[in-house]
This record gives sequence, structure tokens and C-alpha cells, in this order.
Amino acid sequence: MSSSVFVIGASGYIGLGVAQAFRRAGYRVYGLIRNEKYSNILLENEIEPIVAQTFDDLQSFADTLALCSIIVDTVGYNAKLSSSLLEVAIQTGKTRTEDGKLSHYAPLYIFTSGIMTYGDTSSTGRRPVDEMVKPRAANQGANNSSSANVSAMKDREDFENHILAVSSASLKTTVVRPGFVYGGQGGFVANLFYSEPLVIQGRRDMRWSWVHVDDLGEGYVAIARAPRVVVDKQLYNLAAPNDNPTYEELRTAMAKAQGRKETIEYKEADKDVPTRWNTDSIINPAKAINELGWHPRHVGFVEEIGIYYKAWAAHQSTQEIKSSEHA
Ligand SMILES: NC(=O)c1ccc[n+]([C@@H]2O[C@H](COP(=O)([O-])OP(=O)(O)OC[C@H]3O[C@@H](n4cnc5c(N)ncnc54)[C@H](OP(=O)(O)O)[C@@H]3O)[C@@H](O)[C@H]2O)c1
Repeated sequence: MSSSVFVIGASGYIGLGVAQAFRRAGYRVYGLIRNEKYSNILLENEIEPIVAQTFDDLQSFADTLALCSIIVDTVGYNAKLSSSLLEVAIQTGKTRTEDGKLSHYAPLYIFTSGIMTYGDTSSTGRRPVDEMVKPRAANQGANNSSSANVSAMKDREDFENHILAVSSASLKTTVVRPGFVYGGQGGFVANLFYSEPLVIQGRRDMRWSWVHVDDLGEGYVAIARAPRVVVDKQLYNLAAPNDNPTYEELRTAMAKAQGRKETIEYKEADKDVPTRWNTDSIINPAKAINELGWHPRHVGFVEEIGIYYKAWAAHQSTQEIKSSEHA
């Protein structure tokens, strides 16, 4: 495999997972990071770090970007940054293809969005939503939607549509909507729920679709490997089918894995908790499975919660040791 991949935001939970998956698949992988302290983590994983203190400094990585036939934005939607990253990819594509004349050199740009773009998926019944269902951001948090929540997801949906619309002879584009991600060092949900008091706020029966970080990374690789004509201008939901525990099942299992003895406190959702957290987000990943042959392999977050808690806790303690050594 001689193709090169450029992962923007490779120090992130998804970014590192995606970069590792591409490396496992034999690609040469460059990881754009803004903090030098992550360089060694990338190098340990055979990923070449490119450090740019601010990603607005596009010239500092333009030459490396031009070497890559796959560009993955794992920072996700950022009102200030996303457009300029896309613009630099468009310019890179033009350079690589001599403005579309050599379109076989066109890079593929994969943007990381998320399934919360759909809004409250229970508003269309209990069936998981696929990519043909138009997001209904206005439904987020049905009774107590704040305009800020709705607008954040609407902006992200608009940006997804923009990315797909700019596909051209010199840059092909795909959007990934990952489910909630678990496994390995753990993401923001693990950080939040393992650390918080044992409280269930708002609905206890809401459900989200989950995906293991390794399976998610394999999904990005499957997109990169597929014929461009299949994945160009396409959206893919990437979460395991039927891994949708309720909030209460998840919190109870997490607390048990931690050995917590206190009883769960139930309360109304705090006003400052984004209302999009208080919704169902259940997706159907059949498109990626059928079109790309993507096969999530992990059996479920709750089913193997014990090992996921230990992995998260080990990562936290490694981080603490490293920061105390540098103090
Ligand atoms: N984790 C999930 O369960 C999940 C599920 C679906 C969708 N998503 C979406 O996927 C995206 C990534 O999520 P994640 O969990 O991987 O987040 P994360 O661990 O916080 O990683 C975010 C990455 O983006 C970089 N970054 C953030 N803001 C930046 C900025 N202004 N300039 C340059 N780099 C910046 C971070 O760099 P530093 O390390 O230097 O901060 C980091 O590399 C987000 O948009 C999120 O909404 C996440």
C-alpha cells in the first residue's frame, strides 16, 4: 500500500483511532496536531506527526498534504476552522490534479460529523434512522430545545451538505457520522460519566448508538478503500447495529464496573446540560455494511464494560504519572 493519509486532529480520541486503523491497513499516515506533546504518542504508533500550533497556519502543512490521496478531518465541525481546512484540501486537490485535468489523482476528503446531527431520532418512531432520513435538528430535546443547541447541529448539517456539494474532479468528498464512541482510552462520555456523581438526569430510557473506536477506524479505512465512485458525495452512519443501551443501563453498568456503592440519584435534566443529550440517537449502519463491507466486530459497550473501564482507568493513571513526572 503506497497511498498516504493525512489525519487532521490526530491527537484526538477519534483522530488517533482513525490514524491507527489506517496504519494497521498499511497506509503511510501523517497526523496533524497542534501540541508537540502528542508527537511521541503518534510516533509510537508509526504515525508521522506534523505540528502546527494553529491549524490556520495552512502553509506549514500544505506540502505534506499534497503528498496524500486521503485527507481526514477528525476535528469535526468548528465554525472557524472547518471551512479553512476544507479550502486547503480543495487547493491541494487542484494542485494534485492540475485543476481537474488529471482527476485520477484527486484526493478523497473525509469529514467527521456525528449522529446527533439527526436530532431526536425517536421523533420518527423507534426505527433506527438511515442516511436517507433528513435531519430534524429542530426536534432536539423536544420539550426544552434551546436555540443554541438546535443552531449548533443545524450549522453542522449545513456544513455536511456544503462538503458534499463541493465534490469535484479534483477533490472527492465523504461525510462520516460516527455513533458514540467507546473503547481504548475512552472518549468524552467515559470522562464525563466515570467522573461524575452517580446521577441520571432527565430521561432514563433514552438510547444512543455506540461504536468501538477500532471498528470506527476500520469504517474510515473501508471508505478509503472503496471505489471513489461509490463513496463520493456520500454520507455514512458508522455505529454498530443494535448496540443501543438505554442511558440507565449504561450508567448502571459503568457504576458496577467501577465498584461504586452509592445508589443512583434521578433528577430532572439541568438547564445547562445541552438538550441534545436528552434525546434518542439511534442509527442504522446498513449502508456502510452493505456498500463497503464494513463489519463492526466488538460485541457491545455494556457487554464488555469491565475491560473498557479498566482501559479508561489505566489511561487516566498513565496520564497522571506523566504529568507528575513533568511537574
Ligand atoms: N467521541 C465521540 O463519541 C464522538 C461521536 C460522534 C462524533 N464526534 C465528533 O467527532 C469530533 C472529534 O471528537 P473526539 O471525541 O475525537 O474529540 P477530541 O478527543 O476532543 O479530539 C478533538 C481533536 O481536534 C483537535 N482540535 C479541537 N479544536 C481544535 C482547534 N481549534 N484547532 C486545532 N485542533 C483542534 C484536538 O486537538 P488537541 O488535542 O490539541 O486539543 C484533538 O486533536 C468532534 O467534532 C465530535 O463532536 C465524537
